[in-house]
Amino acid sequence: MEIKKITVIAGRGRDGKKEPLEGLELQMGDIASIVGPTGSGKTALINDIGLFADGSTPSRRRILINDAAPSREFLEDPSKNPIALITQHTSFLSDMPVYKFLTLHARIRKSGKPEVIVEETLDFANQLTGESIITDSAMTELSGGQSRALLIADAVIIGNSPIILLDEIENAGIDRNKALELLRKYEKIFIFVTHDLGIALLSNYRLVMSGGAMQKLIVTEEEEKRMAEKFKVLDEVTLHFRDRIRAGDRLAEKDLTERLRRAQKTLI
Ligand SMILES: Nc1ncnc2c1ncn2[C@@H]1O[C@H](COP(=O)(O)OP(=O)(O)OP(=O)(O)O)[C@@H](O)[C@H]1O
Ligand SMILES: [Mg+2]
Repeated sequence: MEIKKITVIAGRGRDGKKEPLEGLELQMGDIASIVGPTGSGKTALINDIGLFADGSTPSRRRILINDAAPSREFLEDPSKNPIALITQHTSFLSDMPVYKFLTLHARIRKSGKPEVIVEETLDFANQLTGESIITDSAMTELSGGQSRALLIADAVIIGNSPIILLDEIENAGIDRNKALELLRKYEKIFIFVTHDLGIALLSNYRLVMSGGAMQKLIVTEEEEKRMAEKFKVLDEVTLHFRDRIRAGDRLAEKDLTERLRRAQKTLI
């Protein structure tokens, strides 16, 4: 089944009142962010989407795929489920070695030649992590960042899921600029729950949550897109020093001054 769009029909906020925004419609190729303070209901919303809520979750929201109630098949057969949800807290139940796990998944999904597709998946994941994943190690031995990177790569490449929901990828310590750059090459619906300025501004629009309810939808205008480029330059300065700290180096003020001077030239 070809996925063209997904619709969220509003339900109720935590106070039981109707949500201010009546609904949300995402078309294939859209990148959306969900923003809002801690506890505002962002995770609850993407869980509703991931579960194909039908009015029976606490929010009473309903999800439609291509304007119709999703087929039961999606929930019953994981290989037909068009949604991949990468949660805030990942843990694996299987202690299978990484390579074996990916190969098995590639065979089940029949997404291409397993060896080729597994290599592509590992390459994608390793571009997001600081240290490469050792393919003979057990899934349960991966670090938090490595697990998230592997799950993202697995959902995009092996699962080939048309709809990908990502809960706060920035907190896993993976390279978020690289992640966005890689993900944008794929034609999918991406929904990022994020507290990150760069991710929010690189999205086509952002949904604002509070009190467990969808409040409003803000389309990213040209002005904000220009600002996003500038934030990226500033971000790269900070990331450079974060990497120095991670590498066990000492920081030099002169280095910062020089980088800020260079950044200023492109910024103003
Ligand atoms: N519409 C709703 N109706 C009832 N309960 C809700 C609703 N939305 C959210 N909640 C509940 O409110 C609590 C906080 O929501 P949630 O975990 O989704 O917040 P969050 O925005 O993801 O926070 P964080 O940024 O800390 O991850 C949860 O217990 C959730 O089940
Ligand atoms: Mg959350």
